[in-house]
Parts: sequence; C-alpha cells; structure tokens
Amino acid sequence: MRRAVCPGSFDPIHKGHIEVIARAAGLFDEVIVAVSTNYAKQYRFTLSERLHMATATFSAISGILVEPMGEGLLSDYCHDRGVSAIVKGLRSSSDFDYELPMATMNRQLSGVETVFLPGDSRYLHLSSTLIKEVHALGGDVADFVPRAVMRRLQGDIGPDTTPVTVVPPRR
Ligand code: PNS
Repeated sequence: MRRAVCPGSFDPIHKGHIEVIARAAGLFDEVIVAVSTNYAKQYRFTLSERLHMATATFSAISGILVEPMGEGLLSDYCHDRGVSAIVKGLRSSSDFDYELPMATMNRQLSGVETVFLPGDSRYLHLSSTLIKEVHALGGDVADFVPRAVMRRLQGDIGPDTTPVTVVPPRR
C-alpha cells in the first residue's frame, strides 16, 4: 500500500488543491488530505468547517481520505500514518523556493519524500487568501471553489460545531 499525504490549511479548499489531490490519487493507493492546525495562524474557518468542506468535496471519490493532521510535525504524522510521500502542488518558482527546505527537512527527520506536482495552468493564480479577499469584497468565486465551499461562503448552512479530535503530536 503506497500512501501519500496532501497537507495544508485548506482555509478553504479550492480547485487548485482539488486538481493536485486528484492527480496524487492516480499515483498512490491512498491519499490522505491532512488538515493542519497551527495556533499561531488566524483561520477564516474553524478546523471543523475546513474538514467538513474537504470531506464533502471528496466524499464520492474512493482512495481519498480527509482527516485532521494535528498540531505537531508533519514528519511525525507521516511516520505514524505510514505515509511514504508528501505531495505538494507548485504554482510558481517562489512556491518551490518555499517548499524545498521543508521537503529536505521532512526527509531528514523521518525519511519521507516530497513529490511536487506542477499546478494546472487553469489554477495557478488561485490561493485561499486571494479567494477569501475577492469574496469578502463582493467578487464571484464560484469558478474557483467546490460547491461545499460555495455553500459555506454563502452562509446557507449553519455553523458546523462538530467536535474534532486533534491527533496529539508524537513524543
Ligand atoms: O496550507 P499551508 O498553511 O501552507 O500548509 C502548511 C503545512 C501544514 C503543510 C505546514 O505548515 C506544515 O508542514 N506544518 C506542520 C508543522 C511542521 O512539520 N513544520 C516543520 C516543516 S519542515
């Protein structure tokens, strides 16, 4: 079983993420979409909401699981979950410059490899930050996000208060 992880904040998940995750699912037996928690970060959506939107997006696709990553090291998470590769999408050379030291660090910490997939040209301009800004200022983001996110942005579902168990960091 070759298992990969696609880690991220997914605040919220968008079509650039989805396209890369779907391609990763074609390369590995199982892909875990690991939704991170970093208490130093200000999220627009709660962990529960981010999990809910990602889970709804991939619910009909076998081989893709969504779960919380916890707040520890990604390398520890990979070790604990038997993950052999981290998959990251690259939109630009600045993404690569940002990701390369983390890829090397993760390999040195736990032996996990990082696989970079070039982002599809349709989505290279997308980021969760830009989507939130455009939406907040009244722009239409329906082309950029899955339906579960659009529903959440339009506020036609109540706040998701489902309790979430966060996996504690491995000691
Ligand atoms: O979507 P994001 O916020 O860019 O995701 C970043 C993420 C979760 C991939 C990154 O912050 C991460 O790996 N966090 C886990 C903490 C960790 O392992 N830090 C050391 C990285 S070498």
